[in-house]
Amino acid sequence: MSVRPPFAIDLVSDTATRPSLGMRDAMARAEVGDEQRGEDPSVNALTEKVAAILGQEAAIFLPSGTMCNQIALAVHCRPGDEIIAARNSHIVSSEGAGASVFAHSVIRGIGTEYGIFDAKELAAAVRPQGIKTPFSKVVCIEQTSNRGGGAVWPLETVHEVVGAARDLKLALHMDGARLLNACVATNVSAESYAKPFDSVWLDLSKGLGCPIGAVLAGSAEFIQQANRWKHRFGGAMRQAGIVAAAGLYALEHNVGRLAEDHLNARAFAERIRDLPGVRLQFGRVDTNLVFFDVSDSGKTAAEIARGLAQHDIRIGVESQFLMRAVFHLDISAKMTGAAVDALKAVLA
Ligand SMILES: Cc1ncc(COP(=O)(O)O)c(C=O)c1O
Repeated sequence: MSVRPPFAIDLVSDTATRPSLGMRDAMARAEVGDEQRGEDPSVNALTEKVAAILGQEAAIFLPSGTMCNQIALAVHCRPGDEIIAARNSHIVSSEGAGASVFAHSVIRGIGTEYGIFDAKELAAAVRPQGIKTPFSKVVCIEQTSNRGGGAVWPLETVHEVVGAARDLKLALHMDGARLLNACVATNVSAESYAKPFDSVWLDLSKGLGCPIGAVLAGSAEFIQQANRWKHRFGGAMRQAGIVAAAGLYALEHNVGRLAEDHLNARAFAERIRDLPGVRLQFGRVDTNLVFFDVSDSGKTAAEIARGLAQHDIRIGVESQFLMRAVFHLDISAKMTGAAVDALKAVLA
């Protein structure tokens, strides 16, 4: 059985991982039942495990992180409400304006460099509430911040923002697509980051290496409402234990190793930092994402990506001159070095 990806070295995203043979074996052996009726033992084991990891009462298994965000916002908001989030966050740029479609709400973006704002910036973003203003309802933080270069929200900042949100009577939502990367990078538990939130989720299909799935957690009442939205979206499944088993496998085998992805990302950044025409976009690499600008190289990001494809390497093109390389369990230190060498050759 071949598990070779379409590119020998695929840095386009941590979603490019292929389920390992061990994971496939766990999937093949999964106990299953009717998930929609709450009867799938593997799904139930996964949701209980993730709720415990996040310090929450209950959780729900969903096909994707986008659905976690959209369901959470739909539960928190009523038509005309406002969601506060960093301007470069995923719910702003990459979910098809879903908050306006499903939650009938607008997003107020806070300008940040790393996707991280503080309590003061949050308070400044809440409008004086009146008859003319959108009703500020929920604040969303993204841990780690994808377009903030994979930056980790420090625990103190999270707690300050939580305190301010409570004072401002805002609900709290955490997009935890890469929360476990933050935990591994800082040695802070997921519960410490996530417990104060009204809703929070983990993606299984990114650094954890699963083919599908995300788990959204919150209070039992929140999850009951989320379940109605899940059904409404057609997201309720049947013998979904076959994919939940991959999640259980990943939580056991693929969390600690995220540190290797962070090391590879840092090594890549260090080695491309001084290449002519390359400028790292962020001053630091906290986790597994490296953004770099190529505007001084005489080539566009798309041209460089095409050049790398000749070396059997795929990389992210964020905009005309911005590129993103993402490190994950299918990228070794050796492949990281090969990607640097190929980039050098393409730039030469
Ligand atoms: C920060 C963040 N949130 C949400 C998502 C959406 O997750 P999914 O691809 O599972 O829908 C992503 C995906 O890249 C992401 O990076």
